[in-house]
Amino acid sequence: MINTNNREHVKPFKLVKYFSLTSLFVILLGTLILSSLITRRAQSVLLKKSKDYAALMAENLNHQIFVQFILPTALQFGRIQLRNKVQFERLDKVVRNTLHSFKVEMVNIYDLRNIISYSFNEKLVGRKGLGGINYQQAVNGKSSFRMIRTGQFWEMMIGIPKETKLCTYTPLRAERPLSVIKGPILGVMEIVQDLSEDSKTIARFQLLISLISALVMGMLFVVLRYVVKHGEEIIERRAQERLELKERLSHAERLATVGKMVAGISHEIRNPLGIISSTAELLKQRLNTFDPKNRLPDVIIQETDRLNRIITDFLSFARPKIPDLMPCRVDEVLEKNLTFLEPELERQRVKIKKDYRDIPEIQADPHLLYQAFLNILINAMQSMPGGGTIHIDIFTYDKRLNIAFNDEGPGIDEEVLQKIGEPFFTTKEKGTGLGFAIVKNIVQAHRGSVKIENRERRGARVLVSLPLN
Ligand SMILES: Nc1ncnc2c1ncn2[C@@H]1O[C@H](COP(=O)(O)OP(=O)(O)OP(=O)(O)O)[C@@H](O)[C@H]1O
Ligand SMILES: [Mg+2]
Repeated sequence: MINTNNREHVKPFKLVKYFSLTSLFVILLGTLILSSLITRRAQSVLLKKSKDYAALMAENLNHQIFVQFILPTALQFGRIQLRNKVQFERLDKVVRNTLHSFKVEMVNIYDLRNIISYSFNEKLVGRKGLGGINYQQAVNGKSSFRMIRTGQFWEMMIGIPKETKLCTYTPLRAERPLSVIKGPILGVMEIVQDLSEDSKTIARFQLLISLISALVMGMLFVVLRYVVKHGEEIIERRAQERLELKERLSHAERLATVGKMVAGISHEIRNPLGIISSTAELLKQRLNTFDPKNRLPDVIIQETDRLNRIITDFLSFARPKIPDLMPCRVDEVLEKNLTFLEPELERQRVKIKKDYRDIPEIQADPHLLYQAFLNILINAMQSMPGGGTIHIDIFTYDKRLNIAFNDEGPGIDEEVLQKIGEPFFTTKEKGTGLGFAIVKNIVQAHRGSVKIENRERRGARVLVSLPLN
């Protein structure tokens, strides 16, 4: 019963769990894709800017070389000859002055036979055929670019190469003053820029976004798992509580039905019982005159009394207990019990020993408590047919008012202990087995608890525990 009930409620949570896990992966994947798209876009913007920048730089360099080197050198020497040290150094000065504030790693100038005639790296000067296809395009008047990415295999895999370089190839032209028509091509310039740092910054940024989103997702998931687990526990508890409530309700319903039945029948039985009892009383008086020793009417009177008591017990057990709560002192209730029982206690030579430590007023129904204590005290008395002492202790513990009844009877066997409180369970010849069931009903109606156990040395102990507020 509990299980099916639980399953019903746990199911939606399973669904939540499933959705949360899936959506988590979807969001994570989405974030990764988005961050890689953003990075790609950033990389391409960086490339475009670098290309524009390089084109401008090349144009400027072309101009400076032409004005500050080619023209004066041609005038002075008659022809350009970079093998001439003076000319080479002059060009070197012009190039380095023009580019000194730009981040340029390398400049090569090729002549029209694809031979490097000027380079930052002097070892390259004189080498032939290094320009490749980009050189060919530039010789034909078309600028072009080449990316160089180098690094370890794994660096390339995660998209963070060690070095990223942009090589710009552009024709070196003669200029015609005051004309828009471009002059003839004199050679090819190769400008190499190092973009490693910018590119790495962007890649690191992507890595950071991915890591942070994974971390946030992970944390979200943990929180969600916690919430779901907590929710499940609450639901499980609720289901358990509902089940208990249902059981208590059906128990109360059963009792109410039995109660109505018993109330109806007992009314019908009590009337003839009363007539039998009073008739026996009359019979006794008449018999007394000529047969005073005859005990038969007494037997009838005793047994009708017993029947009457059984019916009363039935009624009080079967009637649902709704306590009429009011400020109440248990010692006062007990005093009434003891006054009522006094003749019987005396007859059976049972003494009462009280140990009342702390008796705060509680909210309770004194009539119901009276009934409960009476049943407990009668059981204790009945357990000591040869006499003895009943110790009654009252004390507060753990926000509860406790009333303990200790007798000096034989105590209780294990199998009997299990069954005490079950309606109609009795070990007594003339018992109905309702006494302790009534006690339980009453105490539970007060949100209290009652237990019966064996005392350490001998006798039984009944502990009633009632809430203080
Ligand atoms: N103080 C006690 N010492 C030993 N046994 C006890 C004690 N109190 C209860 N019992 C056992 O528990 C059984 C059930 O008690 P309960 O009061 O419910 O019914 P009963 O006393 O047998 O009958 P009734 O109270 O209806 O007259 C008793 O028959 C007895 O065996
Ligand atoms: Mg009893």
